[in-house]
Amino acid sequence: MTRFSRRDLLKLGLIGGASVALPLGVWDLAGARIRAAEAVISPSVAPFGVDLPIPPVLAPSATEAAADHYVITQQEGMANILPGRQTPIWGYNGSFPGPTIVAQAGRTTNVHQINHLPVPVATHLHGGHTPPASDGYPMDLILPMQGSATIEHDHHGTVVQGEKLYTYPNQQPASMHWIHDHRMDFSGPQVYRGLAAFYLIHDPLEDALGLPASDHEVPLMIADRTFNKDGSFFYPAIDPTYMTTPGVLGKFSNGMLGDTILVNGAVQPRFAVDGARYRFRILNASNARVYRLALSTGEAFTQIGSDAGLLAAPQQLATLTISPAERFDVVIDFGQYPPGTQVILLNQLGTGRQAQVMRFDVVRTARDDSHIPAQLADFTLPESTHATPRTFQMFYGLGGWTINGHYFDPDRIDAAPKLGATEIWEVTSDNTHPFHPHLVHFHVLSRNGGPPLPEDAGRKDTVLLRAGEKVRLLMQFTDYRGKYVFHCHNLEHEDMRMMGQFQVS
Ligand code: C2O
Ligand code: CU
Ligand code: CU
Repeated sequence: MTRFSRRDLLKLGLIGGASVALPLGVWDLAGARIRAAEAVISPSVAPFGVDLPIPPVLAPSATEAAADHYVITQQEGMANILPGRQTPIWGYNGSFPGPTIVAQAGRTTNVHQINHLPVPVATHLHGGHTPPASDGYPMDLILPMQGSATIEHDHHGTVVQGEKLYTYPNQQPASMHWIHDHRMDFSGPQVYRGLAAFYLIHDPLEDALGLPASDHEVPLMIADRTFNKDGSFFYPAIDPTYMTTPGVLGKFSNGMLGDTILVNGAVQPRFAVDGARYRFRILNASNARVYRLALSTGEAFTQIGSDAGLLAAPQQLATLTISPAERFDVVIDFGQYPPGTQVILLNQLGTGRQAQVMRFDVVRTARDDSHIPAQLADFTLPESTHATPRTFQMFYGLGGWTINGHYFDPDRIDAAPKLGATEIWEVTSDNTHPFHPHLVHFHVLSRNGGPPLPEDAGRKDTVLLRAGEKVRLLMQFTDYRGKYVFHCHNLEHEDMRMMGQFQVS
C-alpha cells in the first residue's frame, strides 16, 4: 500500500523548495483539462426541498475529572446530497459535516484521530488556543493507517503513522470553532471532500445569560460545492490523487467556487422554526466563497458573537459579510412573524442558485423565555508593547499568491514575537484574502485608516481583506511558545503557499 519515503515526502512538497513549480508536461495536458474543468455545472436541484440536517453531538469515549476523550476516524463515506445520487465523501467518522464536539471552557478535550483515508492528514482546530503539538501544523502529518511502517523523519514536522492524539485545553471563553484538515499543500481538496466539523465551547458566564439554547441554538455550516453528473464532488485538482503535484487547474487558482450552496451538507435546506428567538452559529466553511447574508424580510440580524466569543454588547446588522472560516453568532426572532411565514436567508453576493442559502419556515407560535442582555462579555484591550507594527502584504507575485513576496517556506520564520507580547500587525491586500493567524485571537483596530467595520467587532481569528484594503490587528501572544502558521483562508491560495509562520519564544 502507500509507502512514504523521503522521496515521496519531497514529491508531496513537504521538504525542499518553497516554490510550487509544476513539473514539465503538466502544461501540455493542461489546456484540455482546464477547459473541461471550467465547464462543469452541477445537476440542478429545487431549493428548499430538504430539511436542515443538524450534525449529531459526539459522545465522549471516556470522561475523567478534568478531561473528555473522543475518538474520531477519518474515513470515506457516502452522503445523500443530490436527489437520487450518492456523493462519496471524506469525513470525520465518515460524515460531512463531521460530528460536533461540545467542550466546556477550562476542561480539556482529547481527540484521538485515526486516519483511514488514503492520504496524509493534519487536523487543525480553527479558533483553538492550542499548544503547538496539537495545533495541526501543516507538516505534522498523520500518514494513512494502511501504510508501511517505515517513515523517514522529516525535520519540518512530526510525522506519525495512522493515529494521533490532539489535546485542546479549552482555556478560552465560550465560542464556536471548527475542526478541519490542514495538510500541507492539500488542505483545499481535503476540506472540500468533507473534512470539517463544528467545535463548540460553552462556559458558565454564557450559560447564565439566558440566550436561546438547546433546539433553539443551531449551528449552520455554509459551504459551496460543484457536483459531477454522477453525484461526486467536482474539484479541479491538478493531481486528483492528491499525492504528487498540489494546486488546481486554470481559473480555480483564484479559489474554488462551487455553484451549489449547502448548509450542514444539504442543498439549500428548509428549517421549520417556532415563532421564537433562535441563536444561529454561522460558519463559512467554503474554500473561497464570500457571502453577504441578509433576510428576505429585510429584518436585521442581532449579532451577539464573532469568531472567538461573545461581543461586549449585541449589535444589529442588516447584512453579514462572511468570508471563509469566519463565524457569526446571531439571533433571529421569528416571534415577530405569524405561522406560515417563510424567511429566506439570502446571499446578496450570489446570482442564480448562489443567491439563496436556506429558508426558515415559521410553523407555530411558541412561548419564548430567552432574552438577549444588553451586556454580553467583558473585555478590555491591552496596549501594544511594540511601537512599530509588523507589516504583511498579501499580493500576487512570483506567479502566485504571496505574503510579503514570499511563498511559505518551512525553513523561514516570518515573525518572532515574545511570549506575552502584544503587537500590531498591519495587513494589506491586493485582492480578496481572508487573513488568519493560528493561536491568536485579535481585535481589528482599524480598517483603511478609519474605524473597523461593524462586522470586525469582537474577538476574531479571521479577517476579510478586499482589494486595496489595510487592517490593523491587535495580536496578543499568550500561553504557548512554538511555531504556528498564518495564512490566507482561501484554501486554494493557502495551498499555493500564501502562508507564513511565527515562532513565539
Ligand atoms: Cu482554518 Cu490554518 O486554518
Ligand atoms: Cu486556524
Ligand atoms: Cu488569498
